[in-house]
Amino acid sequence: MTDRLAIDGGERTVPEGMVKNWPPHDERDRQAIMKVFDSDIFHGNSAPHAVEMQEKWAEYCGCKYALVTNSGTSALHMAVAAAGVLPGDEVITTAFSFWASAAAILHHCAIPVFVDIDPVYYTIDPAQIEDAITERTAAIMPVHIHGMPCDLDPIMEIARKHDLKVIHDACQAHGATYKGKRLGGIPFTTGFSTNRSKNLSSGEGGIFTTDDDDAYEHARRMREFGEVVPPSGQQREYNAFGLGWNYRPHEFVNAFMLSQFERFPENNAKRQEFARFLTEGLEEIPGVAGPAEPEWGEPVYFTYVVEFRPEEVGLDCSPAEMKAACVKALSAEGIGLGQWQTRPIPGQDVFQEKEGFGRGVPWTLNPDVEYDYRGEDYPRTLEFIASHSYLRGVYPPNDLELMQLYLDGFRKVMDNIDRVMEVADEE
Ligand SMILES: Cc1ncc(COP(=O)(O)O)c(C=O)c1O
Repeated sequence: MTDRLAIDGGERTVPEGMVKNWPPHDERDRQAIMKVFDSDIFHGNSAPHAVEMQEKWAEYCGCKYALVTNSGTSALHMAVAAAGVLPGDEVITTAFSFWASAAAILHHCAIPVFVDIDPVYYTIDPAQIEDAITERTAAIMPVHIHGMPCDLDPIMEIARKHDLKVIHDACQAHGATYKGKRLGGIPFTTGFSTNRSKNLSSGEGGIFTTDDDDAYEHARRMREFGEVVPPSGQQREYNAFGLGWNYRPHEFVNAFMLSQFERFPENNAKRQEFARFLTEGLEEIPGVAGPAEPEWGEPVYFTYVVEFRPEEVGLDCSPAEMKAACVKALSAEGIGLGQWQTRPIPGQDVFQEKEGFGRGVPWTLNPDVEYDYRGEDYPRTLEFIASHSYLRGVYPPNDLELMQLYLDGFRKVMDNIDRVMEVADEE
């Protein structure tokens, strides 16, 4: 590798084709899926792979119940409903997440109320929650974003004080712990996603967890048309106890998830190893920084975020300008960085237009309340979005050799930052 930047025709730091995709899969996954064909059982809440996955996930999380679902959004919707949230209730959540967190609240005709993020860990800021509580508040939904466990003690304390339920969006945080306890095993209800990108991946899918008997019954019925469907071979009553959905997953998906689950702890450990290696390395490179680790728990690095700090390299520009120029230069070096969210959730059109079940619903369920969502009310979320980017490939089957090349590439780009900015200006 030369010191000449790849944007200036120098050799790229990371060779073409070196970065591998997630999730790693092999013959074991193929065999697991083929066995479903052989079994002739393709779906159902008592299908063998569904049952085994639920038992294993409940044991892993340290909770009483797990239910596999067809998506993280459906698992989260079940988590909202099973927590006893009713139409018109308000649920407090973070302004910074994938908007499915808020959609799961709207799916139950409840109303999301947003608060800004903590400036260090980018999860919901517990200090801002109490100000958002009204007599309509039923629950708090912390989102363990990027695999980072939220600071739960203060959230649980507020919930206890105001008699609110805590609904965890752990769609990005399989295996993350808070004070030694795994998410999924912390009250009251939790939703996980197992879509293609997630730490535990089944292509598409989700898992609901709880310790509470009533919440489990509620979620179980909700997953399957509002009915109680017995194991196959027994007569189904065909009597819905209440409104339900079809949130069942397919057995192919359950088999793939189970097969991936065998390697999941090892894969999570690799993510942590790579992330810590990068963070330590980036500490030595002025201009960029990796994420902080809290003393209260262990993150599982669903994504690895890099912060751009222009003042550290003597640049008189905004972090967004520096980021845009560096992302181009790093991309030429073979280092992929991407933008994820582009605005706070309340700044998205769905909240600006209040476009739900037709215009205005469910917000009109509280006719005396003017819900006014403004993206600019969440400055920390805006700052995070402007100054951070997501580094691709920080997971197995990639390895420490690639992580070292990433550090070499960051070093090269930061050592030549004036040239990087100049090239960006020329375009
Ligand atoms: C934080 C968060 N919540 C909810 C979801 C929704 O999960 P799914 O895509 O499986 O429905 C996702 C993932 O896409 C997510 O990242």
